[in-house]
Amino acid sequence: MNDDGSRRHLVLVGLMGAGKTTVGAACATRLARPFVDTDDIVEANTGMSVSDVFAHEGEAGFRALERRAVADACATPTPAVIACGGGAVLDGDNRRRLHRDGFVVWLQAAPSTLMARVKDGSKRPLLQGRGTATLERLAVVRAAAYEAAADAVVDTDGRTVPEVVDAVLEVCPR
Ligand code: S3P
Repeated sequence: MNDDGSRRHLVLVGLMGAGKTTVGAACATRLARPFVDTDDIVEANTGMSVSDVFAHEGEAGFRALERRAVADACATPTPAVIACGGGAVLDGDNRRRLHRDGFVVWLQAAPSTLMARVKDGSKRPLLQGRGTATLERLAVVRAAAYEAAADAVVDTDGRTVPEVVDAVLEVCPR
């Protein structure tokens, strides 16, 4: 954290299935901080599931709601752990805000690992009926955005959740 209290949050970014929610919640417990997930904020603000938001508002509508959710998450008054939806970093304003208010860790994994973790992808509208090929494509298309957002990278392949938590807390300044 900077002396002026800026960059106070721990922010997790990465593709669907990277473990942002699971690892983020465990990091929050270890750090005794609140845990916030931008998808949860979208759902709370709309009263709809992410899938329903995509169905009713389209991806563009979801992204606008997600931008507000990122701002809400960053406005958490105490230092928090923030798990971002996989596409949040595509938006330049989100990237700047997350980087201004937090230390950003990019959780990485091979597309086959991601696919195994999201199982049938039924809660992820971008994956429905598609699969590993979609994750492979998103990994390529989004790499520059994750790279631009990230202060540190943690590989999650072949690691348990507690091992990933240890690795995240090791790279994160406190
Ligand atoms: C998305 C990832 C999802 C959710 C939405 C879109 C994406 O979050 O925000 O389905 O564009 O990668 P998770 O990364 O938590 O699955």
